[in-house]
Amino acid sequence: MAPRSLIVGNWKMNMNCLSSKALVVNITRNVRSIAIELAICPPFVYLLPVSLLLSSSKVVLGGQDCHNYKSGAHTGDIAPEMLVDLGCTYVILGHSERRTYHSENNAVIRSKAKAAIRAGLIPIICVGETEIERSAGKALEVVDNQIRGSLPEQINSNDVVIAYEPVWAIGTNCIPNIEYISTIHSHIRKILSDICCDAVNIRLLYGGSVKPDNAKKLMSAVNINGALVGSASLQAEDFLAIAKEMS
Ligand code: 13P
Repeated sequence: MAPRSLIVGNWKMNMNCLSSKALVVNITRNVRSIAIELAICPPFVYLLPVSLLLSSSKVVLGGQDCHNYKSGAHTGDIAPEMLVDLGCTYVILGHSERRTYHSENNAVIRSKAKAAIRAGLIPIICVGETEIERSAGKALEVVDNQIRGSLPEQINSNDVVIAYEPVWAIGTNCIPNIEYISTIHSHIRKILSDICCDAVNIRLLYGGSVKPDNAKKLMSAVNINGALVGSASLQAEDFLAIAKEMS
């Protein structure tokens, strides 16, 4: 049996306190009986108000990054234990925006992933090739290196979630065709089986311009267990429509 699907909303650096609360209320009021798991990842400063609003909901919470230390002199950073303290289940790690704008490499992401698991979080580890890498025919090689370099050496299937986000599909309204996604996802599953004995149960998400009108089609890809959604997660109707299409 395939693992339970997961749809994650990555709000990135958007919203304010009022609009965050309004969005969560709108999601929880309208979520009804969706068979899949829903998670939302607001900016750090809105985690607490959002967490309070989610307390009696099935929708779960995640952070957008974390440090690899528990505490200490790390101005501006957030420990994984702090995310747990606020009720987080997940943490996004290695997003291409962190790899690019914060120079996070595979070793840094691996150390954050270990720290997140130690704290009781499930890291959503992001991988994906750039446009230049894609056109050079290097997508599989890039994703292979990122998976092998960013994941902890030994994992169980419920320790991590993988999100394949081709960088060229993020915020562009341009998604790869289903065969392309299937090829990459099958390759990722194969690599995962080298490092995890029950790799079939690791959830593998697709991210990059996921919208209500392409969500159903995306689910026809091989080895896909949900989506990591950016801009469409900022509207309750769109986020829930994606969840419905992917159920
Ligand atoms: P968009 O859905 O806005 O393309 O963003 C995808 C993403 O980066 C999610 O993490």
